[in-house]
Amino acid sequence: MKLQIVGGGKMGQALLGGLIDTFAPAAELGVVEQSEVASAAVTKTFPGVHVSSQATEGVPTVLAVKPHLAIEVVRALPPVPQLLSVCAGITTESLEAVTSAAVVRCMPNTPALVGMGASGVAIGASADDDDLAWGLAVLGAVGVASPVSETQIDAVTGLSGSGPAYVFLVAEALTDAGVAAGLQRPVAQQLAYQTVAGAGQMLLADGAEAAQLRANVTTPGGTTAAGLGVLEGNGIRAAFQDAVAAATNRSRELGKS
Ligand SMILES: NC(=O)c1ccc[n+]([C@@H]2O[C@H](COP(=O)([O-])OP(=O)(O)OC[C@H]3O[C@@H](n4cnc5c(N)ncnc54)[C@H](OP(=O)(O)O)[C@@H]3O)[C@@H](O)[C@H]2O)c1
Repeated sequence: MKLQIVGGGKMGQALLGGLIDTFAPAAELGVVEQSEVASAAVTKTFPGVHVSSQATEGVPTVLAVKPHLAIEVVRALPPVPQLLSVCAGITTESLEAVTSAAVVRCMPNTPALVGMGASGVAIGASADDDDLAWGLAVLGAVGVASPVSETQIDAVTGLSGSGPAYVFLVAEALTDAGVAAGLQRPVAQQLAYQTVAGAGQMLLADGAEAAQLRANVTTPGGTTAAGLGVLEGNGIRAAFQDAVAAATNRSRELGKS
């Protein structure tokens, strides 16, 4: 087996879906799950994947259980060479205290569930560059993955971890604003959601720069300039700065507790 994922819930299944055939064939991937319901769901959705209630010794392992279970689950694992934790707030040091594996830690985000994740990946004292490359390859199966130092993981949480919620808030606010401007709600919602998704798609083009894309659609004295002037005047940049800082600080606090 090339890789096993302990915890076949939302994130475990998202990773599995991205890894099949890009990282390894289904027959070389395993899921360790204690819940019968989740095991049955994995078997049905991913035929050929090895599903078991016990982890296999010697297999590189992804830890995708809820954070409060992470330490006790790792303590009970058989010896494995590499451990990649997706558990929010759990430090490599605390995992290294209960495993001899090379420990890699990452912070993915919910768009990983649709193959569009953005993850930061950090190595612990027990891991080296090969382990980092392995972690980046695993997370790269469900989106983009950037190497960061562990001290930056809280900032990754504040930006891309919490970021989808900021964008959902923008979509909500645009919908409400469209209704206030005279559109029916279903129409406003469809236009707002597609605008967010379409603009996001344009940002993915090679060499795209957000500031340039914005300038391209902003004629001096035009409608977009009028709207942007209000957003800038209301301090939108400072609001995002403060939001990311607050989420980063909260992640730091939660990591300590
Ligand atoms: N979902 C996201 O978008 C996201 C984003 C960033 C980080 N994460 C991280 O990903 C991790 C998993 O989150 P999730 O949303 O995927 O949670 P989830 O859907 O609850 O999945 C966790 C799964 O692990 C199973 N499990 C518990 N103990 C186990 C054990 N000893 N051996 C094997 N399996 C066990 C659970 O079964 P039971 O239900 O029976 O307990 C559940 O099916 C969390 O640590 C979270 O911080 C998730």
